[in-house]
Amino acid sequence: MTTVLDVQRFKDEGRRFAMLTAYDYLSAQILDEAGIPILLVGDSLGMVVLGYPTTLPVTLDEMIHHAKAVARGSRQAMLVGDMPFMSYHASIEQAITSAGRFLQEAGMHAVKLEGGGRTVEITRRLTAIGIPVMGHLGLTPQFVHQMGGFKIQGKSEAQAARILADAKDLQEAGAFSLVLEGVPNALASRITQEVRIPTIGIGAGPGTDGQVLVLHDMLGLTTGKAPKFVKRYANLADEIGKAARQFAGEVGTGAFPGPEHSYSANGAAPAAKESREEVKYGAG
Ligand code: KIV
Repeated sequence: MTTVLDVQRFKDEGRRFAMLTAYDYLSAQILDEAGIPILLVGDSLGMVVLGYPTTLPVTLDEMIHHAKAVARGSRQAMLVGDMPFMSYHASIEQAITSAGRFLQEAGMHAVKLEGGGRTVEITRRLTAIGIPVMGHLGLTPQFVHQMGGFKIQGKSEAQAARILADAKDLQEAGAFSLVLEGVPNALASRITQEVRIPTIGIGAGPGTDGQVLVLHDMLGLTTGKAPKFVKRYANLADEIGKAARQFAGEVGTGAFPGPEHSYSANGAAPAAKESREEVKYGAG
């Protein structure tokens, strides 16, 4: 299994690495078998799976529910549970309880927290009790209303200096890695050079140690105009639409189900196999 030590080694050995989001058993299984070393059960769950307009409505219970499914599908990847809005803001005790649920109930190996400032102390307390923390700086979606929208951060010198200082503070507090989202390339590269821990970029250019994308974006399951940083490696929304239309068409014409997809009761050729065959849902 990939551990925090492996992730540090990736950086120390100059090996660029990938992280992807996962929200369910099946995708976790596929990504795990594809050798993706880190799977993030991101609170982007709210937007790409649950249909919320932002990540703010996502609850801890929803995250835990999906994180458990991901853990059932994964064997080798490091699993990171994203602490949703309001699950760590009220007090250190609340943060410990929420993070503890990710490890104890959901089988995660680490948690991710957005922001610097107060999050630094929370990071210190979680790592002190053995809960690895991935930081998240720059465009932090839980701050959408404070940022006035999903806007690139760190463009001004003052903002860039703040983000760099937060990165160093999170490292000092014990974070094992840092997501840098929606910041200019030069700032992400500078942070990557100035901290020992690995950085993982999304919309942060090529200078970070690793890269992460939201699974549904990179598979082309989300449609419409994607942010500039998204690369679609597949076009699954089109494929799914095509398959669904073909299925409905064949049902309409009677072409499906044909004899090869039907059971007979009279001992004809398929029946011999049938008698030993369990009816199973799903091809696995
Ligand atoms: O929730 C999420 O998917 C994330 C990634 C974009 C880093 O935080």
